[in-house]
Amino acid sequence: MPDGTQTMIGQPALRIDGRAKLTGRARYASDEVVPNPAHAFLVTSSIARGRIRGFHLDQARAVPGVLDILTHENVGGEAEKPKPMAGGDTTSTLESDRVWHDGQIIAVVVADSFEAAREAAHKVRVDYEAERPSATFGSPGAEEEVRKAGEHKDYHVGDAEAAFAAAPFKVDARYGTPTQHHNPIELFTTTCVWNGSKLTVYEPSQFVYGLRGNLAQQLHIEPGDIHVISRYVGGAFGSRGGITARTAWIAIAARRLGRPVRLVPTRDQGFTIVTYRAETRHHIQLGATSDGRLTALRHEGWEVTSRPSQYNVSGTETTARVYACPNILTKVNIVHADRNTPGFMRAPPETPYMFPLEVAMDELAVALGMDPVELRRVNDTMRDPATGLEYSSRSLMECYDQAGARFGWKSRDPAPRSMRDGDWLVGWGCASAAYPANIGPAAVRVTLTPEGRARVQIAAHDIGTGAYTVLAITAAERLGLPIEHVTVELGGSELPAAGLAAGSSHTAGICNAVAKACEEIRQKLALAAVVTNDGALSGQDASALVLREGALRSPAGAKEDLRAALSRVTGGVLEVYAENIPQGLPRESIGKAYAGQMSMSRGHSRQDATTYTFGAQFVEVRVHSRTGEVRVPRAVGAFAAGTIVNPLTAHSQCIGGMIWGIGAALHEATEIDPNAARYVNDNLSEYLIPVNADVPQVEAILVPERDDRVNPLGIKGLGEIGIVGMNAAVCNAVWHATGRRIRELPIRIEDLL
Ligand code: MOS
Repeated sequence: MPDGTQTMIGQPALRIDGRAKLTGRARYASDEVVPNPAHAFLVTSSIARGRIRGFHLDQARAVPGVLDILTHENVGGEAEKPKPMAGGDTTSTLESDRVWHDGQIIAVVVADSFEAAREAAHKVRVDYEAERPSATFGSPGAEEEVRKAGEHKDYHVGDAEAAFAAAPFKVDARYGTPTQHHNPIELFTTTCVWNGSKLTVYEPSQFVYGLRGNLAQQLHIEPGDIHVISRYVGGAFGSRGGITARTAWIAIAARRLGRPVRLVPTRDQGFTIVTYRAETRHHIQLGATSDGRLTALRHEGWEVTSRPSQYNVSGTETTARVYACPNILTKVNIVHADRNTPGFMRAPPETPYMFPLEVAMDELAVALGMDPVELRRVNDTMRDPATGLEYSSRSLMECYDQAGARFGWKSRDPAPRSMRDGDWLVGWGCASAAYPANIGPAAVRVTLTPEGRARVQIAAHDIGTGAYTVLAITAAERLGLPIEHVTVELGGSELPAAGLAAGSSHTAGICNAVAKACEEIRQKLALAAVVTNDGALSGQDASALVLREGALRSPAGAKEDLRAALSRVTGGVLEVYAENIPQGLPRESIGKAYAGQMSMSRGHSRQDATTYTFGAQFVEVRVHSRTGEVRVPRAVGAFAAGTIVNPLTAHSQCIGGMIWGIGAALHEATEIDPNAARYVNDNLSEYLIPVNADVPQVEAILVPERDDRVNPLGIKGLGEIGIVGMNAAVCNAVWHATGRRIRELPIRIEDLL
């Protein structure tokens, strides 16, 4: 692509969908108008393990308005289990009497009104054959196994055991992170409408083709007979990445009834009918020389999953490659309990796994008597220690330098309990953030009209991240149009496939696809303009022409307006379909996206380079010396993620992630009753999250970085990195304030009294 054309990528732009959202014109899945819908209410299990002996449905059926009650007994043969995104089998509900976890969907009541369905659902009586469930780590009956080889890798570099034994400075400690639930404001709704053999599904989704492909498989119908629509999504954070059990239940309900069925589950049902972040434990061993160079890194992790699932996040793939170290050993275990199957939640591997590494690094700095930032500097590297590959770019220390300067780190007194302010103990802590620069395949259709309007059609997903806007920015820039002249259609399986909006991969995947389509348009117009005998651009070098400000232009200033240029190649509009296959993925990966299978080039799986995004987090905490209350008056993060397409929404992603990281350190945990294996704070009042008063000042710095190797536009993605390392930075600051090293999250007042 010719240089010197960048004018809009990198400029802050307001969300093009902002007005629709603010005025209520934006239709979220359950707002979509369908004719005469019936309403579904879920009946969920009240035991965590066992079997259903039978249902008593008479009282429920007697509620006026009740139309149907689905159970495994009457519809169990109509669908297969859903296929989870990763990790083998899952807990599912439709096909048998087996209860895998508390809150599992065991029946669906359908009625003329939501109220009737709810009333009847509460009148469903169930006879169970209950068994004693295992809730979590250490519960009787929980089964531990070494994670099976599969999607994730363990690293064995050098001899970490011997190097650790010989190291003059060591950290050897165990850490833990709790179960957490994403609670997007939009509930986990599903609306199904059949028209003959064709099914339309309205469901908030991070992967409309995935939902389509998996549902088709479950229902034994053609994927082409299913249309998934998800134009606006009220938050996702990973919770809408894979298909869950509810969709097939509602599709079957609508088919039996011959009428659209709408499900709007309750908030507490959202804790058990979809995925969540698994509880983890870690053992870290670090060995270092007296000047702080790491000689050994061992990281063993444990993750809770459901009985049948192999789901795990294996964040050791990141922790093995943050610092230079000649001897590395990683291992991951999973622990099966009677729980729903976990899944993606913002920075799924890095949030729980970078926590122990970054706290251990802080502990090592203390042991060495070294500044924690300097410890990171000594161990910085431009080569991936796990594989020996170069990083395509890595600006970890630039992030530390910029955030540290802004924070004022220089004036920190390293001694714990040294920075008091009246009754408040002041602590400053820092930690690294790292996240792979992933990218998925994407197809797109771009249409240009003689009036200088463009339309971008792509089955992308805007889960609140700003995808609508970055697509418009990219097309506007590459076609030389104002952003207002670009319309974007996304969120539907009628559009060209664009993979899964997850793993911070989406902006890179979809913007590179749009750029490719726009480049094809530019080439077509340029070639036609230079070969003609009578145009302003006749005989020019086609590769040097650019589309800018509504015209095709040469570097010397000759130009031809868009209408004239377009008229040479088309009598009407010019429509281009393009597919972008990222480096490292096979041609078939685009077919996989259409088939609804996950296919992604990962930052740690490329053969030519390791592609990672880095950042640095700095936090001030104040701990009350008498009450143990912890406040976070300010936090500064810096992130280097290659090309930033829209700094405005990028900044929002970063501060949102940082605030969530504060919550992960101090507030968030899904509590589970150890006897019943039941979540007890499954609501928004008792599941604690930080609110404005908890987070007075959060600053995110976007550190300029150029990466020509990661992908043509140089985008590394930053939807998730903002949360990474924050939990450790808070924890390290609490140590600095109090002298107490807390290794299990969240940090509670009782840990500090
Ligand atoms: Mo994100 S948790 O990878 O959807």
